[in-house]
Amino acid sequence: MQKNKSNIQILLADDDESVLFAMESILQEQGNYNLQATTSGKTALKALLSQNFHVALLDLKMPDLDGMEILQKVKATSIPTEIIMITGHASIDTAVSAIRLGAYDYLPKPVDSNDLVRVVQHALERSLLLEQNQQLENQVASLTQYHDIIGKSAPMRTLFQTLEAIASSDASVLILGESGTGKELVANAVHRSSERSSGPFIAVNCAALPATILESELFGHERGAFTGAVKDKKGLFTQANNGTIFLDEIAEMPIELQANLLRVLETGIFRPVGSQDEVKVDVRVLAATNQSPLRAVEEKHLREDLYYRLAVVEVELPPLRDRIEDIPLLANFFLKRFASGAGKELQGFAPETLECMLNYEWPGNIRELRNALERAVILSTNSIVLPENLPPRLFKNSTYASSEKKSANQDGELVVFPLGEPLAHVEKKFILETLQNCKNNKTKAAQVLGISLKTLHNKLGRYKESSLG
Ligand SMILES: Nc1ncnc2c1ncn2[C@@H]1O[C@H](COP(=O)(O)OP(=O)(O)OP(=O)(O)O)[C@@H](O)[C@H]1O
Ligand SMILES: [Mg+2]
Repeated sequence: MQKNKSNIQILLADDDESVLFAMESILQEQGNYNLQATTSGKTALKALLSQNFHVALLDLKMPDLDGMEILQKVKATSIPTEIIMITGHASIDTAVSAIRLGAYDYLPKPVDSNDLVRVVQHALERSLLLEQNQQLENQVASLTQYHDIIGKSAPMRTLFQTLEAIASSDASVLILGESGTGKELVANAVHRSSERSSGPFIAVNCAALPATILESELFGHERGAFTGAVKDKKGLFTQANNGTIFLDEIAEMPIELQANLLRVLETGIFRPVGSQDEVKVDVRVLAATNQSPLRAVEEKHLREDLYYRLAVVEVELPPLRDRIEDIPLLANFFLKRFASGAGKELQGFAPETLECMLNYEWPGNIRELRNALERAVILSTNSIVLPENLPPRLFKNSTYASSEKKSANQDGELVVFPLGEPLAHVEKKFILETLQNCKNNKTKAAQVLGISLKTLHNKLGRYKESSLG
């Protein structure tokens, strides 16, 4: 492995100093491994628990603490060190039970130098590979984005890990989730992180077309196959060759076509409509549905064999209401995107705007959030998005709609107005609070209020007059 050998930590423990010395010199010849040696089992255990060793070679029998006990204690933790047992009284039974307990391998005494080098090298390779995987996993776990998928909630992080784990596989994936949860986005990410990423990605909505048309769309047809088939047509499976096809709303695919699909999945072979010849393609199939696939199977909309063939890997996207910690992240992402598209400078959200968004159920999930923000950016005339920029349906569950109207000043603190208060009072109170919050900076206050500096000056002048008069 590429890792610099001096970073490689190996522990040797044997109460027989001559054995210890022999192993040490053989391994030293292999390069500059960082070796630590001890004749005490207790010292070995302490070292294993407090330092990071890639590999440890432990004598089975040591007077103060034997190798088997050390092995058990280490395997009860999450310490990833690979352990090799040195067995003096080579009994196969103890060796087997050591391996059952999680030892990587065992070496009988007297230790053969070739065996020692080989077994240590293999254990190291495994240890370094695990270390690398762990690093990758940690990286993925701390991401808030995987390709174009944004999210930081626990289910989204698990999803990112699953997607990363299946990146190099060619398995079919069935993507489940309510409408607007990002199923197509996930299909796209699976394609882009796969070895087929330079090939085509073709999405087909299986619900949109009647069976005969869908069949010719998917598999193509020959000229004269049916009225209107004036020339040969290549189907989407042919177009997707060496790439990925995404079959959306799979549970709505006409049942009579599902057998043909199953055959392509199993053999890569199909017959274009009206053709004598079969075509073979190399296409990865991803599918999605917003229904329960098991119910679709029960109700005979979806062939059971097709379901199991498609769901080699099944991923489920949780609805947005079940991962509300993703709402601010997604909202900011869409705000930035639409604001820069519209050339507007929008800094963020008033707290009640966020509150409305957090309290809302989002039946249309992320698609609905995206559309709400596109609208908000168009309507917004302030430097922050105010609740009134959101679609009115969002206020139903929010305290924003309760008997006291609340509004936000610059830092988003709430200013409470009892209903029925004259508008002029409300305006005055709001303007003065905003000004105070902008630390008396009138230019900034005017900007936040969405009025000109001149209008602000006029209004402040009038408040002064009325308090004098
Ligand atoms: N996690 C996410 N991060 C960023 N954008 C997202 C995310 N999830 C969905 N979107 C966006 O929301 C919209 C809907 O996503 P998508 O089309 O993938 O949903 P879907 O589950 O396929 O919906 P349907 O079942 O209605 O087809 C798209 O504009 C997509 O880019
Ligand atoms: Mg979709």
